Amino acid sequence: MPETWWRGAAIYQVYPRSFADGNGDGVGDLAGLRARLGHLADLGIDAIWLNPWYPSPLADGGYDVADYRDIHPSFGTLAEAEALIAEAHERGIRVIVDVVPNHTSDQSAWFKAALAAGPGSPERARFWFRPGVGEGPPNDWQSIFGGPAWTQVPDGEWYLHLFAPEQPDFNWTHPDVHADFLDVLRFWFDRGVDGIRIDSAAVLVKDPDAAPDGLDPYTDRDGCHDIYRAWRALTDTYEGRMLIGEVWLPDAERLARYLRPDELHTVFNFPFLGAPWNAPSLRAVIDDTFATLGDAPATWVLSNHDVTRPVTRYGREDTSFDHADRGHGRPTDPALGLRRARAAALLALALPGSVYVYQGEELGLPEVEDLPDEVLDDPIWTRSGHTDRGRDGCRVPLPWSGDAPPFGFGGTPWLPQPPEWKNLTVEAQRADPDSVLALYRTALRLRRELLGDGTLTWLDLGEDVLAFTRESGVTCLVNLGSEAIPFTGEVLLSSAPVPDGVLPQDTAVWLR
Ligand code: GLC
Repeated sequence: MPETWWRGAAIYQVYPRSFADGNGDGVGDLAGLRARLGHLADLGIDAIWLNPWYPSPLADGGYDVADYRDIHPSFGTLAEAEALIAEAHERGIRVIVDVVPNHTSDQSAWFKAALAAGPGSPERARFWFRPGVGEGPPNDWQSIFGGPAWTQVPDGEWYLHLFAPEQPDFNWTHPDVHADFLDVLRFWFDRGVDGIRIDSAAVLVKDPDAAPDGLDPYTDRDGCHDIYRAWRALTDTYEGRMLIGEVWLPDAERLARYLRPDELHTVFNFPFLGAPWNAPSLRAVIDDTFATLGDAPATWVLSNHDVTRPVTRYGREDTSFDHADRGHGRPTDPALGLRRARAAALLALALPGSVYVYQGEELGLPEVEDLPDEVLDDPIWTRSGHTDRGRDGCRVPLPWSGDAPPFGFGGTPWLPQPPEWKNLTVEAQRADPDSVLALYRTALRLRRELLGDGTLTWLDLGEDVLAFTRESGVTCLVNLGSEAIPFTGEVLLSSAPVPDGVLPQDTAVWLR
């Protein structure tokens, strides 16, 4: 693969806790992942992105990192991580790891030292400790997970956490923080990691004491760009490595600033992920994507570990996704959702750029919406005062084989799997040429063999049809209207049967 492999790669997101459990304790781990690398090689992906695998109290599923240079003991050891990287590389699979620079764990050495050292200490200066105002916190900032963004410690000071209280925010005006993260990047690049996914990339810079300046006090502050210029300069001293930012910004031009040639290589395309299932909205997002990217490649994302699974979302009346209201429990038509999710997969995989597939998407797993309250683990559930059930429903361990839970996952899964998943196991789907797994495998193979680089040219088949041809000559049609439409050409692949050259509603086809 070329040094710019990330420009067109198909990247599979591994949520390690829920992928495969090698030691039978009910939690996914590196042994399980190494044993299942064959599944990923068969699927035909180019890279994996692993959610955080570091030592962590798991107050936020591992996004509360206690040590950025080691592996969580329930996942394995650093030596196993190195073995995984080597084994993935032998199979031609690159490895992207998650780095969490906005905040750390309250159990990290630095934060424990800050608590112990007390007010005014140099140890506290690496975080945002402040005296309160009257009885209350220093300001009115709210946590993204709900509730105040400040927590008081016994000596009376408060510290800032944009997420859970167990995730204290770093002070990025402090030189130690800059130096330490450059060292963390070096640590993983030296171990052969091919890319870094940067968590919460647009909220690192803030100043709780600054006078209001009309800008958002912590989102998309200009200082973020200085950080990523330094990260890019370091990354460029290695060959073939990439940086992808988790940047949720509605303004496409502000987003594009993170993609300047000396900053990040790519960012996730969240407008595409959040778009409703209708052709004008999707076409507008696709056009905006290309209009604002400059030389950076597009990324296409339908789901991840934070959002409602497409099969469930696309079966609802409102098919868009928004963190502010994830629509939990709203009526959904699973057959319709599945039909659309299959068509959406062929759309995402046909577009120029790179594509991310979240584990379980290739099996057409639905969101698990009936997890019992007592197993819910996402801090959003408690922080929202039990009004938002959070993200556990897309994190349920994968079904691999067999007729009953744990479906070959390993021990009793840390989140229970629905018994109906017996029809959705990898084993069941491998035996079925019409399965979602078969669709993904074929699409990924054709994408690699036939789609090539190059842009797309829109074709006009009416407002409700997304129709475009790639420079390679492959055409993709997606019918989101209520009328079936006729087409001509050799069918390479379709998301549902296309008898007699007619494309039904909610169906995609690849032609040449
Ligand atoms: C990102 C992660 C999410 C996590 C949050 C705080 O949005 O994707 O899972 O909870 O950052 O680290």
